[in-house]
Amino acid sequence: MSKKSYIPPVRGIRYLRISLTDACNFRCLYCRGENFRPTKEVLTLQRVELILKVFSLFGLKTVRFTGGEPLLRKDIIPIVKVATQYVEDVSLTTNGFLLEKYAKQLKEVGLKRLNVSLDSLNTEKFQRLTGGNLEVVLRGVYEAKNYFNVIKINTVAIRGFTEEEVDGLLEFCAKNGFHLRFIELMPVGELPFFKKEHFLPLEEIKKYIENRYGKLEPIKSNGSGSSKDFYLPSLNLKVGFIKSVTEPFCEGCEKFRITPDGKVHLCLRTTSEIDLLPHLTSEENLEKFVPRLLALKGESNRFIALNGFGWFATAKSMIGIGG
Ligand code: 5AD
Ligand code: SF4
Repeated sequence: MSKKSYIPPVRGIRYLRISLTDACNFRCLYCRGENFRPTKEVLTLQRVELILKVFSLFGLKTVRFTGGEPLLRKDIIPIVKVATQYVEDVSLTTNGFLLEKYAKQLKEVGLKRLNVSLDSLNTEKFQRLTGGNLEVVLRGVYEAKNYFNVIKINTVAIRGFTEEEVDGLLEFCAKNGFHLRFIELMPVGELPFFKKEHFLPLEEIKKYIENRYGKLEPIKSNGSGSSKDFYLPSLNLKVGFIKSVTEPFCEGCEKFRITPDGKVHLCLRTTSEIDLLPHLTSEENLEKFVPRLLALKGESNRFIALNGFGWFATAKSMIGIGG
């Protein structure tokens, strides 16, 4: 058997992203269409607890809460708190707008890691891309710095936009002890923003950094393993690259997503979703269903491997799945 034709079975749920809401107070052009309307929130605190309790029996060690904007959930603090009872590594991705209010409480209830999306340090550019207020986000990030040792800054790379942000972001992260992570723009959903001209391969940014700041030394990645991480000695900084488009990392994937409408989404490269709500009636019922989920994820991995990795499904945009 050739190496390529062997797709390992999915033995567990290694990493879970739960999108708690598809409501968001920003409107990033790569994430949501103008007419997007949020769905009803179905992932109640009780349902989140049930999911984490049962999934932890299948090896779950890391859960990440996303959205939309997860901090818009009124019960975000109790949700994070309950998650820490079942999962070692509880993390959250936010646009930062409400961090000033929540950073301290998030730390107190046991949130381990925090990722903040930040695409520009220029107020006007930030507003143009995200519809948000940079000053409020920065205040939130500085507040969070008081409580979290490691904050990751996520930057989506956009041609004609990001090139002139790189120096500023590197310096900002070096100065504050944050990790910086660039993400390739993924054409998920049919948004007008996904023009070829907007795509900026991360190898370009990496080369730019090496030319200007010196060698990037590879380091072992943690988390979901999708990021290739480096140490930049000249700035004493960690920089990561998520090359989802130019160097996909699908083999052996045991990452699952739950969408705000209560579906298990197997992969950004397929549209297939499985409704979880009918199985959330009891621990026993959900436990019985998980092997089926693992099998479906295995089939999904196989399908993607056989069809090539270079494409994304188009039914929902990121806001509907959970970035
Ligand atoms: N391509 C790449 N990253 C995206 N995100 C949202 N939409 C996209 C996309 N189309 C990122 C956000 C945020 C995380 C939740 O997902 O910037 O950091
Ligand atoms: Fe909101 Fe994040 Fe999507 Fe921007 S990327 S619209 S902040 S969910």
